[in-house]
Amino acid sequence: MRVNGQDMRTIWDKDGKVEIIDQRFLPHELKIISIETLEDARNAIADMKVRGAPCIGATAMYGMAVAVRNDPSDASLKNAQQVLNASRPTAVNLEWATRECVEAAREISENKRADILFDMARQNCDDDAQMCSNIGDYGKVLLDEIAQNKTKKHKDGSENDKVINILTHCNAGWVATVDWGTAISPIYKAFNAGMNVHVWVDETRPRSQGARLTAWELEQHGVPYTVITDNSGGHLMQHGLVDICFVGTDRTTATGDVCNKIGTYLKALAAFDNNVPFYVCAPSNSIDWDMQDGLKEIPIEVRSGEREVGWITGRDEDGIIRRVTTMPDPTKTRNDAFDVTPRKYITGLITERGIANASRAGLLQLFPEKR
Ligand code: MRU
Repeated sequence: MRVNGQDMRTIWDKDGKVEIIDQRFLPHELKIISIETLEDARNAIADMKVRGAPCIGATAMYGMAVAVRNDPSDASLKNAQQVLNASRPTAVNLEWATRECVEAAREISENKRADILFDMARQNCDDDAQMCSNIGDYGKVLLDEIAQNKTKKHKDGSENDKVINILTHCNAGWVATVDWGTAISPIYKAFNAGMNVHVWVDETRPRSQGARLTAWELEQHGVPYTVITDNSGGHLMQHGLVDICFVGTDRTTATGDVCNKIGTYLKALAAFDNNVPFYVCAPSNSIDWDMQDGLKEIPIEVRSGEREVGWITGRDEDGIIRRVTTMPDPTKTRNDAFDVTPRKYITGLITERGIANASRAGLLQLFPEKR
């Protein structure tokens, strides 16, 4: 997608150097840093310099490639897989990416491993961008349907305003992936086609991925948006101000339960109660085919409450970045980073192959090879 008018992805390599956008500095600064060692890749994921399931997966593949470039032995390959897998527990793309690399590297001699893994990491970036683009195309069809209904007049004969209001949580835009995004991809596709879209952006405390990242992306692309507090969505739905919800996923079970940023579940409940369609944009590498029960099986990351809930970082009126607390004791905090939305609250899963019912049968219809 475009940043200051230039095409950009979240991760790339050039002349042997892997570079990422350090997302901790957005929206105030666009900082590019390089990944030269396994430790760099691990830290980038653990410290959330990169975040968002597909972007974590892409970084993990490059992490495997740089580790093997520095030491191509079997022991190094195994160690890299363990180190990267332990960096964050919830997004299944991470394990998927390291497993792909280990399986490919095992088959080839040590002196060719680094080249092969770099090729794989590059190919994965292209594939990821293509999957997200496809998700955008399928999701846009839903927005087209809403637009058609909106052209009908209100019962009293007055014109409908025709704006399509979409609510999203966290950041599942292009900075959470390699390009396009998952939940925001349909919105970009619709906006690019000239449709009248407006996005309600959940702030997404504690790390404010919505306010910092989704808002920044939409601003860069010119898409109309409004940042709302995390508690506002239900109220907006009760007043008919949300036409559809699009969210991403960090891990979707084979049965259609979805684990995503903390607060997603509450939005799904509110959407269910208000008959607002609630779609999860799920590239296939975020589906965990080995898991059946999201609530019981998905590992939920718990991050530092003191650092992320107790203290907040922002720019003051003089343009200085500061950390402040609003609490009497920032240590008395808890910070579960994800929650699980049971499939019964999900209208559909938008994948790169089409839209599935949130169920085993629905997913298998699109991915018969997983039977
Ligand atoms: O903790 P994060 O920022 O890595 O969590 C990311 C999310 O939960 C996103 O909402 C998401 O949908 C997954 S990435 C498309």
